[in-house]
Amino acid sequence: MKVLVVGSGGREHALAWKLAQSTKLQAVYVAPGNGGTALDSRLENIPITDIKALREWALAEKIVLTVVGPEQPLAAGIVDDFRAHGLRVFGPTKAAAQLESSKAFSKAFMKRHGIPTAEYETFSDPVAAHAYIDKKGAPIVVKADGLAAGKGVVVAMSLQEAHEAIDFMLAPDASFNPLGVTHNAGGARVVIEEFLQGEEASFIVMCDGKNVTPLATSQDHKRLLDGDAGPNTGGMGAYSPAPVVTPQIHARAMREIIMPTIKGMEQDGIVFTGFLYAGLMIDAEGHPKTLEFNCRMGDPETQPIMMRLKTDLYDVMLAATSGQLDQVELEWDTRPALGVVMAAEGYPLNPRKGDLITGVPSLEKMQEADVMVFHAGTVPAAKGEALTSGGRVLCVTALGTTVKEAQKHAYDVASKIHFDGAQYRTDIGYRAIKS
Ligand code: AMP
Ligand code: GLY
Repeated sequence: MKVLVVGSGGREHALAWKLAQSTKLQAVYVAPGNGGTALDSRLENIPITDIKALREWALAEKIVLTVVGPEQPLAAGIVDDFRAHGLRVFGPTKAAAQLESSKAFSKAFMKRHGIPTAEYETFSDPVAAHAYIDKKGAPIVVKADGLAAGKGVVVAMSLQEAHEAIDFMLAPDASFNPLGVTHNAGGARVVIEEFLQGEEASFIVMCDGKNVTPLATSQDHKRLLDGDAGPNTGGMGAYSPAPVVTPQIHARAMREIIMPTIKGMEQDGIVFTGFLYAGLMIDAEGHPKTLEFNCRMGDPETQPIMMRLKTDLYDVMLAATSGQLDQVELEWDTRPALGVVMAAEGYPLNPRKGDLITGVPSLEKMQEADVMVFHAGTVPAAKGEALTSGGRVLCVTALGTTVKEAQKHAYDVASKIHFDGAQYRTDIGYRAIKS
């Protein structure tokens, strides 16, 4: 049996790594994959990114299951296309993926279905947007509509920052702004929303169209620098579980956010299948609100979550693609896992590339030590080595008996890995260690 993972990030490396542990599979392909998936003999990279070409390849190779990692192919309709050709694929359809691909869609959806989220308005006219900001005051949050890899959000602490965000996001000629955001073709839009205070958590579930199974909770670190300073990034590190999600908050998130979302989509004529990721903001009183939806797993949250998953991921995916998630019980390692992202110099704006990565332990050594270095922006080089090729380069992920031990373990390994210009936060997990 052969399976395919679509994508090239750390999340896809972790999904493929976990699938490859299934004894039922002969081959795990990753399209297009990265340096880490190229170097693991149990995985094979397929250099195809075009959806139709990939579907033709999957049909020819008799791929029994495809798991889609990133948002772009989902938003482009890969699930609709593969299903239309009889291929089994786990992910949301193009229509369902709008929950992530359009902030305006997801905010209107939440309002319509009474799902707790920040108060907001949508604008395409800069004059009206500036006036709204003056009326509401700072702090306030400005979000570009459309996919921006977590980088299209400005949490403006002052009015000036908010006005500047509008100026570049709604500039008539802007196809590229200082944050590196490429706008949707035609009619840029922004969502301006209330600033929410609290602690964030990533709440990810699997949906098969009928049943909903929550994964272990996790927490990301969105800002580039220690102490949650610097610009927003795709995520600089994560750990699982997230102690902030107490059993009570877990139950509330399921009851008030996840289930109404799945039911609301159904009422709107869209059956949701795939991973649904609610980015939660939990206030001091323990009320969760939805910051955003993603219709995929988180990166880097997937890396610690997959380290903890004990159940055969292939079995889970088969159940998830046949409406039988109620038949599987996910089993988790009770130990926490923590992943530290090592990024290239210049990330998130302009990462440098082409640097040799050294000091990554062998796969055997890592397995023995309950650690795994997942690759993201890397390409294979000679002699089993890899070169940097993108912003987030590696995610050094380790298990430990406590978050503190997992943290120490991950940082011990990270400190021995080298590439010129490497940068990483030194405080991943600090909230869980403090609490
Ligand atoms: P998003 O892509 O919408 O999740 O936004 C990226 C990050 O910006 C979030 O993870 C938060 O850290 C921050 N953020 C987004 N919306 C808000 C908000 N309404 N209030 C405070 N922070 C926010
Ligand atoms: N780590 C945040 C995300 O995947 O969107």
